[in-house]
Amino acid sequence: MPNDHSIDIESVLQEERKFPPSAEFSRRAHIKSMAEYEALYRRAAEDPEGFWKECASELFWFKPFSKVLDWNFPWVKWFVGGELNASYNCIDRHLAGPRRNKAAIIWEGEPGDSRVLTYQMLAGEVARCANGLRSLGVKAGDLVTIYLPMVPEAVIAMLACARIGATHSVVFGGFSADALRDRINDAEAKVCITADGGWRRGQIVELKRSTDEALKQTPSIQKCVVLKRCGNRVEMRPGRDLWWDELMGPQKTVCDPVSVDSEHPLYTLYTSGTTGKPKGVVHSTAGYLLHTLMTMKWVFDIKDEDVFWCTADIGWVTGHSYTVYGPLAAGATAVIYEGAPNAPENDRFWQIIEKYRVNIFYTAPTAIRTFIKWGEEWVKKHDLSSLRLLGSVGEPINPEAWMWYHKVIGREKCPIVDTWWQTETGGILISPIPGATPTKPGSATRPLPGIAAEVVTREGSAVAPNQGGFLVIKRPWPGMLRTIFHDPDRYKHQYFEQIPGVYTTGDGARCDDDGYFWIMGRVDDVINVSGHRLGTMEVESALVSHPAVAEAAAVGRPDELKGQALMCFVTLEGRRKGDDRLREELRNHVAREIGAFAKPDTIRFTDALPKTRSGKIMRRLLRQIAAGDQTLGDTTTLEDLSVLSRLREDEE
Ligand code: WT7
Repeated sequence: MPNDHSIDIESVLQEERKFPPSAEFSRRAHIKSMAEYEALYRRAAEDPEGFWKECASELFWFKPFSKVLDWNFPWVKWFVGGELNASYNCIDRHLAGPRRNKAAIIWEGEPGDSRVLTYQMLAGEVARCANGLRSLGVKAGDLVTIYLPMVPEAVIAMLACARIGATHSVVFGGFSADALRDRINDAEAKVCITADGGWRRGQIVELKRSTDEALKQTPSIQKCVVLKRCGNRVEMRPGRDLWWDELMGPQKTVCDPVSVDSEHPLYTLYTSGTTGKPKGVVHSTAGYLLHTLMTMKWVFDIKDEDVFWCTADIGWVTGHSYTVYGPLAAGATAVIYEGAPNAPENDRFWQIIEKYRVNIFYTAPTAIRTFIKWGEEWVKKHDLSSLRLLGSVGEPINPEAWMWYHKVIGREKCPIVDTWWQTETGGILISPIPGATPTKPGSATRPLPGIAAEVVTREGSAVAPNQGGFLVIKRPWPGMLRTIFHDPDRYKHQYFEQIPGVYTTGDGARCDDDGYFWIMGRVDDVINVSGHRLGTMEVESALVSHPAVAEAAAVGRPDELKGQALMCFVTLEGRRKGDDRLREELRNHVAREIGAFAKPDTIRFTDALPKTRSGKIMRRLLRQIAAGDQTLGDTTTLEDLSVLSRLREDEE
C-alpha cells in the first residue's frame, strides 16, 4: 500500500463548529454523556477481554465459549469454543416474548407494493428457505451466492444459509455477468439464488439474464434458484434452474438451526483492493454478530419502538451489517426499499420516511449531495417529524452536506452519526455516540469502546495532533475480517505487513486536539465513487481487455456529487486514433465488465502515460492532472518529462 503518493497526506479542512446532543436526546439514550462514553472506553482499553466477555452475554449461545480471545498475530479467534447460530440470534430469540409479532422487516417495492414480515413470519420463511436449500444438498461449509434485488427474500436467503451453516456470498445486483461469474468462481459456490429481475427507475434489471451469462462459465454451480419478482420472461434450464416458489412453497416452516463454532464463516463479501482481483472478505459468526449488535445500541441508540432505515443495498457490507444482522439481532424493525430514490419522483425517500414514521435514517454523503441538488422543496412536501437520529457512511461527509442534512432533514433536532468503517471491519469503528458526543461537521469523532484507533507514520509511530498519517487499529476487535477467502497471504500482507504490528486501514486521517478523527480518504490506489470502493486496477484491467486499448490508468477526480469521479487515461494499440465513438465504447465496455456504477466519467486518450524509470505508472501525477492542478510537485523520478506537457495539452 504505502506508495509514492502516500506521503502527500496533508489536511486542509478547518471546521470549528460543534453540535452537542440535546438534553432531551441524551436523557433517553443508551449512553447519556461523554463521561459515560469515556468510562466505557477506558474500561474496554484496560481490560479488553473482560469487556468483550461482558458484551458477549447479549448473544444467545448454544454452547458457552471457554476463552475470549486467541490472538496469534495476525490470526484471530474470538469466543473460542463457543457455539451459536446467527439466524437463531436474529429470529428465534425474539419469538418467546412480545417481539414475536413485531415487524422485523417493512419492505417497500419500487412500484409501490409493500410487505411486512413479523419476526414470527420471518421465522417461517427462513425455515422454508433453509429446508429448500437443504433439499438441494446444501450443507454446513457450502457456499451459496445470492444475486437478488432488494426484496425480503434477500434477507430470508441470507438467514437461511446461516441457519444451516452454509456461508453466503451476496453479489450486488448492479454487478455485471462477468463480475458475478468471477465471484462465483472464486467462492466455488454450489448454488446461486437470483430473481427474474428487479425494479430500478421503472425499468426491469434483468438479473436472470446476467446470471445465465455468468453460469456459462461457473463449473461449481449445481442449482440456480429463481425468484419471480418482475414477471419478465426468463429461460429456465431444466435440471439446473428451479423457481423459488416451487422449491420453498411446500417446505416445512420449522427448521432446526445448526449449532456452529464462533469462528464459523458467516459470509464472504467481495471488495476492491489495489490489485485487479476482488478480495473475498471472510467474516465470522460470533464476533461479527456481536459487533453489529453492540453498534446498533451504541451508535444507533436502537429502541424497541424504533423504525430503522439503512438505505444501502444488501449487496454491500452496510446492508449486511445494518439492514440484516445488526437490526435483527437487536430485535428492531428494519425498512427495506427496493428501488431508486427518484422513482417515481425525487421525494421517494421522504415519502417512505413519512409513510412508515421512520425514526433512524442511515444513508451516504453522495445521496445527500444529490438531494441537495434536487432541492428542499421535495423534502418540504413531507412530514419528517418522526426522525430522531441521522447517520452517514461510505466517505467523508463534506461540512456543507452535513449542515444541510442537519438543518433540512434533521430540523436541527437530530444528532448525526458520521460512521467510519470498512467491509473488512464488519461494523462501525469510529463514530459519535449520539447521546454523548458533541459532533463536528466532517469528523467521524471518536473510536468506539474496544477500538484502539490511532494515526501513525509509515513506521508506526504516533503522529502529533493535527498531523496527517495512516489510520491503523492497534488491537483486534470481534467484528474484524478473519482472512481473505482462498488467499491468507493477501490478508496478512495487505492488512498487517504495511505498518508493523497493527491493522492498516488504507485510509489517511488526522486527529485534532479533542482526539476527534478526520478521515482524509484512501492512501492506496483505490477510489471511492458514490460511496462504492473501486480498485483502479479493476477498471484498468477491464479497459485493457478491450482490443483497442494498449495501456490504461484510472484515477479519481474530485466531484461535487459523487465525491470522486472516475477518470481514465488510455493509450491505444498501433496507430489507432481515439474519438468520441471509441470513448463511448470503452465506457460501456467497463460497465459491461464490472457494472454500470463503475462506468468511467471521463476517458482521455494519450500517446503515453507518465512512468517512473522502473516503469510504474505515476498515478499521483495523473490524479493532479485530473484535478486540474497546474503545479505537479516533484517530477524528478519521471522517465519522460515531455509526456506531462503532452497530457496537459490534450486537456478538454
Ligand atoms: C472505505 C471503506 C463501510 C461501509 C461502506 C464502505 C471510506 C467509509 C467513511 C466515513 C470517511 C469513510 C473509507 C473506508 N469511508 N465510511 N464515515 N468517513 N470515509 O465500505 O467499500 O469497504 O469502503 O470507505 O475510505 O476505508 P467499503
